[in-house]
Amino acid sequence: MHHASELVADAAERRWAVIVMAIIALLLGLMIFTSLHWATMPPSRVETIDVRTLHLKGEFVESNLGTMVDKDGRVVARLVGQQYSFTPQCIVVPVGVPVTFRGTSSDAIHGFMIGRTNANTMLIPGFISTFTTTFPTAGEQLMPCHEYCGTGHEAMWAKVRVIPAEEFFAKAKAAERLSCVPG
Ligand code: CUA
Repeated sequence: MHHASELVADAAERRWAVIVMAIIALLLGLMIFTSLHWATMPPSRVETIDVRTLHLKGEFVESNLGTMVDKDGRVVARLVGQQYSFTPQCIVVPVGVPVTFRGTSSDAIHGFMIGRTNANTMLIPGFISTFTTTFPTAGEQLMPCHEYCGTGHEAMWAKVRVIPAEEFFAKAKAAERLSCVPG
């Protein structure tokens, strides 16, 4: 009798061991599948950029940073974060017009938020972050880095100057790229 119940327990233990192994194998399989799948097929809206040539060519060369009106009429502000500053240090935008920000980082992960707006994103080396927002009122907003990026993190911030739309578009006509008044 004793012997028979031992056999039953043994069989049950074995069965459960197999089930647990199967669950672990399934989870491992899922992990491997998703990591391979995501590595080879990033989400379609992710834009990447080569950090090594960031300053040399393409969209984020220094002369292309700041605000401009694109050919299709969109207002686009481009910026780069680096330890421990933003380029440009001051971004000009119009009141009441959607502004598309496009940014990236040349070193660590930086954060980027603008005063009392819903603008809030991260700047990640190798990737282009983008979002569109509208500024309802004129004035100056602070744009601090809100992602700890090293010993100089506290001092990393820039400004966004929101100016009347007429003034903005008049300036945009005069110069291709807008920055806060030089000097
Ligand atoms: Cu850059 Cu914190």
